[in-house]
Amino acid sequence: MANVVVVGAQWGDEGKGKIVDWLSERADIIARFQGGHNAGHTLVINNQVYKLNALPSGVVRGGKLSVIGNGVVLDPWHLVNEIAKIREQGVDISPETLMIAENTPLILPIHGELDRAREEAASKGTKIGTTGRGIGPAYEDKVGRRSIRVADLADEATLEARVDRALQHHDPLRKGLGIEPVDRERLLNDLKAIAKEILPYAGPVWKVLNEQRKAGKRILFEGAQGALLDIDFGTYPFVTSSNVIAGQAATGVGIGPTSIDYVLGIVKAYTTRVGEGPFPTELLDEDGNRLGTRGHEFGTVTGRKRRCGWFDAALVRQTCATSGVTGIAFTKLDVLDGFETLKICVGYELDGEVLDYLPFAAEDQARCTPVYEEMPGWSESTEGARSWNDLPANAVKYVKRVEELIDCPVALLSTSPERDDTILVTDPFAD
Ligand code: IMP
Repeated sequence: MANVVVVGAQWGDEGKGKIVDWLSERADIIARFQGGHNAGHTLVINNQVYKLNALPSGVVRGGKLSVIGNGVVLDPWHLVNEIAKIREQGVDISPETLMIAENTPLILPIHGELDRAREEAASKGTKIGTTGRGIGPAYEDKVGRRSIRVADLADEATLEARVDRALQHHDPLRKGLGIEPVDRERLLNDLKAIAKEILPYAGPVWKVLNEQRKAGKRILFEGAQGALLDIDFGTYPFVTSSNVIAGQAATGVGIGPTSIDYVLGIVKAYTTRVGEGPFPTELLDEDGNRLGTRGHEFGTVTGRKRRCGWFDAALVRQTCATSGVTGIAFTKLDVLDGFETLKICVGYELDGEVLDYLPFAAEDQARCTPVYEEMPGWSESTEGARSWNDLPANAVKYVKRVEELIDCPVALLSTSPERDDTILVTDPFAD
């Protein structure tokens, strides 16, 4: 297949980094299409650890074009720092290897300030638990038609007009939250200074990708976060502010949906979530602690402890459907080693009825109780397994049952953070 989209099929942190790295070796172009530096992608290559937020994972592999698409919101100061850090690790990043869409909206310091001030002012039950990086306010400015976009950095008069338009909106908002008005001159000077560092990477991403696609190049679309954080289909309002599902890959770079050949959903063998919001299978007991400890479940961006729970097949079936997932990469199976019994959520009970999906209404969600199916666990280690024969029979049964329940086949099974500890069933890039 020529073009593959990778999406997280839960609440993010499904282990996308390793899979994206594995696929990016086979791709010519790696493109980010949504989110921003709220993402934390950790790659381990030849014992070197690379931590990426805004940069596509392809940058650490030589000879590839990495792309930041218009669906992303970009903090130019963070990006410049991230590039500097990655360069210190010996990676070559230049306008030949990185292109940023000219129509990408910028995240400004005022967005981060607003994000954090709102979270501080929020009462219990309304706090989202954001990463505090200004993602939501930057997307609000995009749909409010007052963003400063990458292309605007090229012309000082346009930049000044855009800043004034943004401040007309932001100053009254800030006043309401008790934040002082924006220092216009400072913001303009900072933007003019960063413009010189960002503009060399700016280009018409939609055009380049369409040309490259026609020339037969393989494009990997690298999703961030997870489909349950999608602004439309996630657990609203406890979501991120972008569309995360696979359809966004097309609008987030400017190719048509017909150019997407395969959607790989990344699915963790259990469930985690950072931040607030509904989580029907959350475990607040010893089993939950054990998943967190064995799975090293701490956020890469904020360091927060992730909430942990049983695998929710009803929710993953839903995300596989809304993203049109062709096959899944099933990760962190080894974290389940040693559990006597495993539970899988297959639906929800609501007012005496069993639903096979999670309804959108918040009051209904709060009253839904998971319906579980129990399966025997396994005592043997699955860590590092590289073939089905290396897996205990009960682990194979667990994976097969998950496939049935989510109505989607396993394409890859990952059994440790090491890239070679993977069982390959279907290569998403294979013709
Ligand atoms: P925001 O994206 O910073 O606005 O945060 C909104 C919600 O998405 C919060 O619950 C965050 O914890 C969550 N979130 C944002 N980015 C990620 C991610 O990369 N992994 C997991 N959760 C995320």
